[in-house]
Amino acid sequence: MPLSRRFTLTQYLIEERRRFPGASGDFNALILDVALACKAIARAVAFGELGGVLGNHNGEAGGSINVQGETQKKLDVISNQYFTRLNEWGGQLAGMASEEMDEPYQIPKQYPRGKYLLGFDPLDGSSNIDVNVSVGSIFSVLRAPQDVIDSGRDVVEADFLQPGTKQMAAGYALYGPTTMLILTVGNGVAGFTLDPNLGEFMLTHPNMHVPEDTHEFAINASNARFWEPPVKRYVDECLAGKTGPRGKDFNMRWIASMVAEAHRILMRGGVFMYPRDTKDPSKPGRLRLLYEANPIGMVMEQAGGRASTGREPILSVQPTSLHQRIGLVFGSKNEVERIERYHREP
Ligand code: AHG
Ligand code: MN
Ligand code: MN
Ligand code: MN
Repeated sequence: MPLSRRFTLTQYLIEERRRFPGASGDFNALILDVALACKAIARAVAFGELGGVLGNHNGEAGGSINVQGETQKKLDVISNQYFTRLNEWGGQLAGMASEEMDEPYQIPKQYPRGKYLLGFDPLDGSSNIDVNVSVGSIFSVLRAPQDVIDSGRDVVEADFLQPGTKQMAAGYALYGPTTMLILTVGNGVAGFTLDPNLGEFMLTHPNMHVPEDTHEFAINASNARFWEPPVKRYVDECLAGKTGPRGKDFNMRWIASMVAEAHRILMRGGVFMYPRDTKDPSKPGRLRLLYEANPIGMVMEQAGGRASTGREPILSVQPTSLHQRIGLVFGSKNEVERIERYHREP
């Protein structure tokens, strides 16, 4: 096999760091540990039934329920362990927060504490795992408040309640036909493909860009009766096709793995909606702000797309709780702006 001329993730990070002379290297070490967790999860996912990793955690009957009220899959729990174990030891983190942990995770006392906070959804789309459909992991890096860095104290929920504009880095891994890592460190979006022989993420998609226009949308249409009028109007107009107000036919996709939908949109455009709806007044939306909406929002915006609640940019929302849910619309800029316009119009 000819020697590859491609960059590895490590090389990419080193090149990026050259923009910040004096950087300690902690940030790069953190991203490499996150990437290692994603590689470990990719292996576990790849073995499937052979690895004994499918099905519910703690058996089919009772099972364990996470703070979201969802039954945990074995792989939700295993993936969460990979993330915590592989990121707790290096001295880069002050604390972690995860979909699968009620409270912030404290760095064990035997390890040094660092200046970053890591938020993650260890396994996104986990309802798809038993049917062998793509799943992924999502991560968000924040800087810890200065008093946490100075004192090394335990982290609390409030430390994580920072708007998405404050993210230092964000991305996701997609465990599909190939495993990919999509990363933004605030300077565009780069896509890496896992070389299974080398175990390295290779830069295959530099400068990813979301096309401004699309004729593809993604929404769980079984919720139509709960949608608010602007969303209903937008979808109705798409469905009306060529002879409707949009004057073109639309195509629809719904994988029920947000990472997989985000990746499709990053590759060829589209719009994804899990909007605020009236299904359950206690849940203003389905997706979680801190470790789903914000990291995907940063990736979209860095790729020239847009991410919104329908009313305001997702990244400008001031979070109020760790597991807060929110309405989310993202993808091709012109479509997201149209949906925002429909929310403003009476
Ligand atoms: P998770 O598996 O991390 O709990 O997230 C699942 C999310 C998201 O990936 C997907 O877009 C959505 O839930 C699917 O919701 P529906 O079951 O309503 O289709
Ligand atoms: Mn879940
Ligand atoms: Mn998820
Ligand atoms: Mn999850």
